[in-house]
Amino acid sequence: MAIAAPAFAQEDYPTRPITILVPAAAGGPSDTVARLVAEAMRADLGQQVLIENAGGAGGSLGSGRVAAAEPDGYTLLLYHIGVSTFGALYPDLAYKPGEAFDPVGLVTEVPMTVVGRKDLPPGDMTELLGYLKGEGAGATFGTAGVGAVSDLCGRLLVEATGVKLTVVPYKGTGPAMTDLVGGQIDLMCDQTTNTVNQIKGDEIKPYAVTTKERIPVLLDVPTISESGVKDFEITAWHAIWAPKGTPEPIRQKLSAALQKALTSQTVIERFASLGTVPVPAELATPAALDKRFQSEIERWSKLLAAN
Ligand code: MLT
Repeated sequence: MAIAAPAFAQEDYPTRPITILVPAAAGGPSDTVARLVAEAMRADLGQQVLIENAGGAGGSLGSGRVAAAEPDGYTLLLYHIGVSTFGALYPDLAYKPGEAFDPVGLVTEVPMTVVGRKDLPPGDMTELLGYLKGEGAGATFGTAGVGAVSDLCGRLLVEATGVKLTVVPYKGTGPAMTDLVGGQIDLMCDQTTNTVNQIKGDEIKPYAVTTKERIPVLLDVPTISESGVKDFEITAWHAIWAPKGTPEPIRQKLSAALQKALTSQTVIERFASLGTVPVPAELATPAALDKRFQSEIERWSKLLAAN
């Protein structure tokens, strides 16, 4: 049960380390964003900000742990767009994502990339789509499980193009990427924060970016729309949430620390090298996340119900 923290605790907050739970494996894209931001928030909060990874079921399990945690500002969730799909994808979930969390703020919006193992035969996205409808139908497609953004991207791709994929779920796309590089799976659609280095290192084959326009860090990689798939777009917005009942002053303090963290030169430079940018200060707020989250829940509920 949510119990409001006493007022004196809110003024002193934080007096001990804060844990940010990332409901995906270490070394993956959510983990990368969380660790960078946590380190920068530590400076402002004057307390350690620890990361705990708890992957599984697309992030719905770990998110549930935060939903059930004490609403005292010491357990937070950092995850992404996927949280807005859990209600539609897991009807028996023990919590309702739209009601179980109090927002802290948006963090970043990450482009995604369709990538293949290095020796996958198709040379470009158009060839890949043909291949997946013919000899390559049922190619293995690594995801972080139902509701992960890697899974959502695959669903949209199947819906838009009619290709056939065999989904291989992992506890996060960190381990899935290890298998893609090793050639154990054929394809993924993953965030640039987990693909740029492997693309530049020539360890995997880039097919397309999922944004409307090409992105500066991967200018040679075309958009999916350039291969004739109209209006295909998905990005992974990330955010920080607290369990429902977390006092407003605590969330405002966290939001202020987040806003400062997002202006850190290290965060800006690391994000840029991984194909993304921090959100502007006005979006790293409870109000902005609340608006985005509720509208995304509505959008994905309709989209997933229709499919
Ligand atoms: C991860 O960190 O593993 C990803 O964010 C999972 C996903 O694809 O959603």
